[in-house]
Amino acid sequence: MKILAIETSCDETGISIIDANGDFKDFSCEVIANELLSQASMHAEYGGVFPNLAKREHAKSLVPLLQSALANMPTEQIHLDDAQIEKIKEILEREPELFVQLVMLLSQNTKPNIDAIAVTYGPGLAPALWVGVNFARVLALAWNVPLVAVNHMEGHIFSAMLQSTTGANYKLSAVSFPAISLLISGGHTQLILAKDLHKYELLGQTRDDAVGEAFDKVARLLGLPYPGGPQISKLAQMARNENLSTPYTLPRPMIDTSDYDFSFSGLKTAVLTLTKKLGELSNTQKKQIAKEFEDATADVLLAKTTKALADTGAQTLILGGGVSANSHISNTIVSTLNNEFANVSLLTPTPELTGDNSLMIAVAAYFRLQGGEHAEVAQLEANANLTLY
Ligand code: KG4
Ligand code: ZN
Repeated sequence: MKILAIETSCDETGISIIDANGDFKDFSCEVIANELLSQASMHAEYGGVFPNLAKREHAKSLVPLLQSALANMPTEQIHLDDAQIEKIKEILEREPELFVQLVMLLSQNTKPNIDAIAVTYGPGLAPALWVGVNFARVLALAWNVPLVAVNHMEGHIFSAMLQSTTGANYKLSAVSFPAISLLISGGHTQLILAKDLHKYELLGQTRDDAVGEAFDKVARLLGLPYPGGPQISKLAQMARNENLSTPYTLPRPMIDTSDYDFSFSGLKTAVLTLTKKLGELSNTQKKQIAKEFEDATADVLLAKTTKALADTGAQTLILGGGVSANSHISNTIVSTLNNEFANVSLLTPTPELTGDNSLMIAVAAYFRLQGGEHAEVAQLEANANLTLY
């Protein structure tokens, strides 16, 4: 089954096409196209993602990315009837930035060899999600194929299971349920219990800032550009390589609480207070603060994750989201699993799949379709606060 998937929840525009087969235990897919365009450099001057700029950039990029994705796809001639055109117009009136490009594309009256359209409908930034959802609705209407709505967080879970086999082919790693998912990104910090395929329960989440957001804010305090996670990580790594001891102690918020919740805003405020006290920071001080901050985040993420593993007896740990690219956090988790949870297998995304991408959305959509799910084109709405449980 060929699925075309669209991801626009934050600051990456993604369009992928997969040809997928099998069920959860013997899944395989060939990646026919995987287009990804990051807007990160454009948001850098705001020190974070600016929702309306994100939307505008998605609107600009979607049609060109779609054209590249479809470049080698066989097409057939189609004819849009008046009812279809009317419905498409209605949707596109809400997306003036997409209108001209998409109308030009549709006026070719061709349909690629695609069996379904998948789109991320939440969680994320509302304006960014909407443009992707409306784009997907138009394609599903024009090509008369089913539309599948995908939860972005479920996408991150699938991204950790994806294993590349040969060439552009992937399969899924074996997962024994129940599994614990630690999803850490710029927008989320969640511990989720996956009881089975599509059966989730929220164990805990951040009560304020997401961990990636804290990395980004602390980076700003240290005068580092957005996205701050990789920058902080680089400085902290330098401190470790130089065996630089740190005279600063930052809090580990909520590390000893009996729940699975997190809090990162106090940690960020502690860095703010410290940097105010220190005034102009030397490079050494920046490295020391970066290392202590990274240690503090790794400590709390590890504490809550191991608590969840111990309490549930889960034998699979799934790590996902942009912050899972942090090697100190993942190394800390790996060594603790080796020492204390030898029977737990860890699934982490390959580096190109840690951040937002549409391949994970395509794969998540495949299993939703297999379960008989599809969205109503006339009714599908973006949901910025969509949950998985
Ligand atoms: O999953 P993602 O690409 O987008 C969201 O859905 O948010 O995650 C982006 C977040 C940013 O906050 C970025 O600073 C953080 O992931 N990040 C990192 C690292 N690489 C990306 N944080 C810490 N260490 C890293 N190496
Ligand atoms: Zn994400």
